[in-house]
Amino acid sequence: DWTTGNVIEEQVAAIREQVGDKRAICGLSGGVDSAVAAALVQKAIGSQLTCVYVDHGLMRKGETEQVEKDFVAATGVQLEVVDASERFLGALAGVSDPEEKRKIIGREFIRVFEQAQLEIMQEDGPEVAFLVQGTLYPDVVESGGGTGTANIKSHHNVGGLPDDIEFELVEPLRQLFKDEVRMVGQELGLPDEIVQRQPFPGPGLGIRIVGEVTKERLDLLREADAIAREELTAAGLDRDIWQCPVVLLADVRSVGVQGDGRTYGHPIVLRPVSSEDAMTADWSRLPYDVLAKISTRITNEVADVNRVVLDVTSKPPGTIEWE
Ligand code: XMP
Repeated sequence: DWTTGNVIEEQVAAIREQVGDKRAICGLSGGVDSAVAAALVQKAIGSQLTCVYVDHGLMRKGETEQVEKDFVAATGVQLEVVDASERFLGALAGVSDPEEKRKIIGREFIRVFEQAQLEIMQEDGPEVAFLVQGTLYPDVVESGGGTGTANIKSHHNVGGLPDDIEFELVEPLRQLFKDEVRMVGQELGLPDEIVQRQPFPGPGLGIRIVGEVTKERLDLLREADAIAREELTAAGLDRDIWQCPVVLLADVRSVGVQGDGRTYGHPIVLRPVSSEDAMTADWSRLPYDVLAKISTRITNEVADVNRVVLDVTSKPPGTIEWE
């Protein structure tokens, strides 16, 4: 029978058999799939695994710390965190076009990740012959079922490895659906904040700032997003919504009145949606009092924001993200 215990036992044996006494690397994105895949492989081969987490500076509040502290505490995994935020910000300077931003973020991500891989491969120890990926059953079906070459199915959906590095893939989640992956993660002792995480795009907050991405704008959006998430969680709505992008309209200003005078600040957009698979979505009918609380807190607590607006567009025609 199918139990998470059986799945874990089976996969641990299979991973040990596959990897032998060689080493493996795994890229962590902060998302559920890579976290559970890494935890499974860690359980199987311990210190033969090294994880790499690229901090691009576009994460939400607390997310990097979640990987750095909570994930490591729960799994004992060997983790290399690469702080590349300045590099990403530099590459994004002056860029407002959404596609251009995505390309830059994807490109820089691959470069930083490859560099970290090379460094790990040059450390003393057995050959690094394996790359762990959090491929799920729906991904397998979608891509025609074959075992791929070492193509980084990163959260950026781009790129691959240079031709001269050959990895064999370890894909312990290939037979699982998302809800099963969550159950396995829970059984492995991963924190709820990771296991129950809602989808978050690879390019992160970089595509939730309409306009140029700057450190100041990221800090501002990070605060607004943290408030929205906190209130949605407090209201017990996390399982009711698929995700809720919080978007900063950095190139728009409107007039407001706050404290002693008039302000000229930016709007924040709330985009709560319900969905089964993100292909289509409907806007979530959130309780007015929750919306009111979020709005009041954001305009009170986040400097330079004087307006909060609600996106009431389904998908199609509107995508879930604004960029
Ligand atoms: P859209 O905006 O196309 O988003 O309706 C559909 C789902 O995909 C997520 N999303 C991404 N996920 N890399 C990802 O891994 C990306 O570049 C990306 N862009 C959008 C989005 O959050 C939603 O869940």
